[in-house]
Amino acid sequence: MKNLSISSHSSFLLRYFGMSVFAALLFCAKPVYAENEQLTKLMLTNNCLACHQIDKRKYGPQFYEVAEKYQGDSSALEKLAAKIKVGGTGVWGEDIMPPQPHVSDANAKIMAELIMALKPAK
Ligand code: HEC
Repeated sequence: MKNLSISSHSSFLLRYFGMSVFAALLFCAKPVYAENEQLTKLMLTNNCLACHQIDKRKYGPQFYEVAEKYQGDSSALEKLAAKIKVGGTGVWGEDIMPPQPHVSDANAKIMAELIMALKPAK
């Protein structure tokens, strides 16, 4: 009986400690916009992270730059959603974005919208 109460007490402490570490991490992290979080998840599940990051240039352009480039272009959403699926080259240099046929039309559209909605954290 004594042992039992000790172990349940320490597991409570562990859980409590774990939660406060988690909370501390949340507070230290830079504020992440909700749309960035959704975009990052989609980039992960659709395999875009291999070549793109939101805020750093990788093999492909960073998405902040993409958002900036097409500000005020009313056809950008459609263009980007199409390009996400078929790929292409020549806009950002010589590098080629291969077609991404695994991306659904719906996800291509959502990602184009989320990319266009990005605002650099200043
Ligand atoms: C193999 C590397 C690679 C992968 C994987 C990749 N991209 Fe790209 N992406 C590129 C390159 C390179 C460019 C620049 C193409 C150009 O200059 O026209 C680019 C350009 C873009 C652009 C800008 C298009 C334009 O015309 O301005 C968007 C938006 C984009 N990618 C989204 C995505 C998304 C979303 C995914 C995941 C489904 C993805 N990419 C996967 C390499 C990649």
